[in-house]
Amino acid sequence: MERSIESIAEMEALGGEIASRLQPGDVVALTGELGAGKTHLCKAIVRGLGSREVVTSPTFTLVHEYPSGRIPVSHFDFYRAARRDEIVALGWDDYLDRGDVILVEWADKFPELFSAGTQWIHLAVDGSTRRLVRWEEVS
Ligand SMILES: Nc1ncnc2c1ncn2[C@@H]1O[C@H](COP(=O)(O)OP(=O)(O)OP(=O)(O)O)[C@@H](O)[C@H]1O
Ligand SMILES: [Mg+2]
Repeated sequence: MERSIESIAEMEALGGEIASRLQPGDVVALTGELGAGKTHLCKAIVRGLGSREVVTSPTFTLVHEYPSGRIPVSHFDFYRAARRDEIVALGWDDYLDRGDVILVEWADKFPELFSAGTQWIHLAVDGSTRRLVRWEEVS
């Protein structure tokens, strides 16, 4: 599937749509260049899942947790991780086991961390406010 998103508002609406379909334990792996809109989309998903906390980019801490919604969310950003071991040391396997929705920016840095059921979403800049969003249906 590919969708052309014309504005930040449309990106937020897409996040709400994605959130409404997510189940505990779902993993969403996001890719796309700097400024593609990964964090914006994650914010909208967290909000759509009902978490009330303010969502900020976990670039420096690698992970932020949002426990207050319909499903708790753990939001990772692999951008600053130099090695896969840094993610594993955070307790990656425990995060996967506990049934949160997992959102990961720059997921393609360590694709081997993801299982076959992962929902990959690719974002690309296509103008100042237009973004192309591609994903494959996960069965
Ligand atoms: N349709 C859109 N959807 C999302 N962001 C948009 C859109 N149009 C413009 N923008 C702008 O693009 C930027 C997206 O920033 P965001 O932090 O979400 O990107 P990112 O992919 O997380 O980048 P990074 O790799 O640095 O984490 C923001 O400055 C935002 O205002
Ligand atoms: Mg980001």
